[in-house]
Amino acid sequence: MANSTTDSDGFVTVSKKKSAKAKRLVNSDPLSVSPVFEPIVLDTCFKTISKAKAEVELSIFYKSFLTLLTEIIEKRKKPITQIICLGLGRISTCKTAQHQLGLLLLLGEHLLCPIEVFDPVFSSVEKDIISHLKLKLAATNCEGKRKAVLSSSSFFIFPHCPKELSNNLLYTNWSPSHLEHCILYANSFGKIRLDTPDRFLKSYHYLHRSIEIVEELAVPNNFRFPDIFNDLSLHHFPSELIYSVHSSFWESPEPTYPATETELISEK
Ligand SMILES: C[S@@+](CC[C@H](N)C(=O)[O-])C[C@H]1O[C@@H](n2cnc3c(N)ncnc32)[C@H](O)[C@@H]1O
Repeated sequence: MANSTTDSDGFVTVSKKKSAKAKRLVNSDPLSVSPVFEPIVLDTCFKTISKAKAEVELSIFYKSFLTLLTEIIEKRKKPITQIICLGLGRISTCKTAQHQLGLLLLLGEHLLCPIEVFDPVFSSVEKDIISHLKLKLAATNCEGKRKAVLSSSSFFIFPHCPKELSNNLLYTNWSPSHLEHCILYANSFGKIRLDTPDRFLKSYHYLHRSIEIVEELAVPNNFRFPDIFNDLSLHHFPSELIYSVHSSFWESPEPTYPATETELISEK
């Protein structure tokens, strides 16, 4: 006999009463654009994610990534003790998100530290994947306003995320004592500065001003698929830069964003 339950994403979980090996999730939304109700099987997701992780692990891209990250860690002499990743996207179905998740898992193993993730679009299937992979799902939408741990380094990973998340992270940690504990892998600040029209610079004040205090290391985009790690850089804030600016540099009004511009998904 089989049991079925419908979750908030309109998927029906079908499980055999005794030993249902795979958790089978069938899209039951009658308005679904797909003419075939494609089942999402967790086992298949895990295989795809594991294949993506192996591909990243064997790549020259990952080798360069680790070389640059090690360079930063050695300069700072503060070990990374937590990884916080926002905006992975649809890890059950999207190739980009699955490879970025592969990188995240590899970094957790390499740095031997816990990983916390959050994306407001995660479905219940994706939350199951996250818990199975032993990642921590953040309880709230912090909108990037997350403070670094002061005894070590926090590694923030925001791949292809709205620039508001990086700007909010900077705003929240806008002091030498916090920024020296932050490393961020996210869309290149340099590129964002170039691409943001002058009339919006006030909203993205922190991304704009960080030019004086950030060291940006572009990770060569030589992965097999060019649209997975493109335009992403490692950013950190060397002591010699953050301790050399005038105290007025650290004034920090809370940023607000033009509603028409932002892709940030807010708590409310
Ligand atoms: C352009 S997509 C990038 C998805 C994926 N990382 C990629 O490279 O294809 C931006 C992601 O940021 C997420 N996002 C938006 N607001 C967010 C928030 N407040 N916290 C975490 N993620 C957020 C979106 O849900 C979306 O998955």
